[in-house]
Amino acid sequence: MNKRYLLIIAIVGIASMFLATAIYAGTTVADIVKMENKAYEKHKKSIVDFSHKKHTEDYKAGCGECHHNAENKPLNELKMGDEVQNCIECHTKAGRPPRAKKDAPKLSNKEKMEYHAYAIHVNCKDCHKKANKASGTKSAPTSCAKCHPKK
Ligand code: HEC
Ligand code: HEC
Ligand code: HEC
Ligand code: HEC
Repeated sequence: MNKRYLLIIAIVGIASMFLATAIYAGTTVADIVKMENKAYEKHKKSIVDFSHKKHTEDYKAGCGECHHNAENKPLNELKMGDEVQNCIECHTKAGRPPRAKKDAPKLSNKEKMEYHAYAIHVNCKDCHKKANKASGTKSAPTSCAKCHPKK
């Protein structure tokens, strides 16, 4: 192979790298998302560092396992660069559901799902429990203190 070919290959290579960054530039999801939603006046618990990158790349979680549309249909075809709604846009109440009182009617699952922290907890913990069962380990955190270490 002569030098001219090598040069062309190098140029094509570099150009496609730029193209790839241009395509992905529309997406703004940090590798590590600080789960500190602005809708909360104050967080009672410590803030979770959620590694979006590890979950999608290392743990091979599909987009639709966490992101869905207004009909709760998983967004399996989501791509980096697409618009993504935040959980709080639909699970609108900051916090966890109030503790059930003895004489008050219990909240239905649908009512509980209106609470942001409830929906988040169900999403994270359900998968973590399954993952730990499958791996026979406890590497996916399921207890309060593992995700929210003491401040
Ligand atoms: C394990 C769960 C999980 C998986 C899998 C996942 N995401 Fe996310 N993603 C989140 C969470 C949680 C947030 C933070 C959203 C929030 O705070 O409401 C987020 C945020 C985002 C954001 C930023 C939204 C914004 O406006 O701040 C984008 C873009 C995004 N995800 C795209 C994707 C794509 C594309 C995939 C698949 C390749 C994917 N996500 C897979 C949980 C996940
Ligand atoms: C566009 C609106 C919308 C967004 C954005 C949204 N959700 Fe949901 N979600 C829903 C609806 C609607 C349901 C169904 C609620 C019901 O059963 O009453 C739901 C249900 C759920 C459930 C229960 C799943 C099941 O089938 O039992 C979980 C867990 C959940 N959402 C977590 C999340 C998380 C985490 C995010 C952000 C990564 C998110 N949602 C973003 C609308 C949304
Ligand atoms: C679709 C499955 C799935 C969902 C949903 C999911 N996780 Fe995980 N997560 C995993 C797996 C698998 C591991 C453990 C991987 C290992 O180390 O074996 C993990 C590990 C973790 C860890 C410890 C290791 C690390 O990467 O920092 C944290 C913290 C974590 N998850 C936070 C979250 C939070 C917060 C949510 C909800 C917003 C969430 N996860 C939702 C699959 C999931
Ligand atoms: C898999 C990780 C994980 C586990 C396990 C977990 N949480 Fe959370 N929790 C989160 C995330 C992520 C949020 C969302 C915070 C945000 O987006 O602002 C949250 C939100 C909360 C909030 C509302 C925000 C605040 O700080 O006031 C409370 C309260 C809370 N969790 C308590 C608990 C308790 C109690 C347990 C155990 C029963 C628990 N959590 C287990 C990840 C976890």
